[in-house]
Amino acid sequence: MPAFSRIECRRGDLTRERADAIVNAASPALRGGGGVDGAIHRAAGPELLAELIARYPKGCAVGEACPTGAHGLNARMIIHTPGPIWRWGGAGEAEALAACHRSSIVAAGKAGCRSIAFPAISCGVYGYPPDRAAPLAVRAVGEALEDWPELQARFVLFSEPLRELFQAALDQARGA
Ligand code: APR
Repeated sequence: MPAFSRIECRRGDLTRERADAIVNAASPALRGGGGVDGAIHRAAGPELLAELIARYPKGCAVGEACPTGAHGLNARMIIHTPGPIWRWGGAGEAEALAACHRSSIVAAGKAGCRSIAFPAISCGVYGYPPDRAAPLAVRAVGEALEDWPELQARFVLFSEPLRELFQAALDQARGA
């Protein structure tokens, strides 16, 4: 039974969230960028980039999760996961986006985290339509949480419309 009761949606700035694990919508290169990736690097400080270069010289595959320390963030760890670039839905984007969420939950669970905060992965620069991403992300997180009963998840959305979209997807999943 997917654990949708352990998911919540809120509007906010992910870099100001207090959570055991903060998920970064990274690029496969793992060298920072714009959007939430850029915001996280600015908030975490230059040591984050140094750790990424040292630990992941070859970067990270789309859908995989690469943990680092939290550095300047109010967390125990940052989980870097490259989402898929939207290519009109015919290139396995849905499965890759689900994999981002599953692998991030597993990484947080294995590290003993009690809370994990996600941005809307791939819904910015990577162009994934949020109305398609939201139900998929909610379902992937709900299913993955089944294996980690101590873990609470939240989506931290940068705009009210996005928060409403994710909340509607969560309500739908709960009611399904
Ligand atoms: N807190 C929460 N959400 C944020 C924040 C923030 N501080 N900043 C941006 N966002 C939101 C965006 O509005 C969008 O809804 O995060 C979502 C993901 O958008 P992007 O950050 O652009 O990430 P993505 O679409 O996955 O593209 C990743 O962009 O920044 C580069 O290096 C990154 O190449 C990678 C690509």
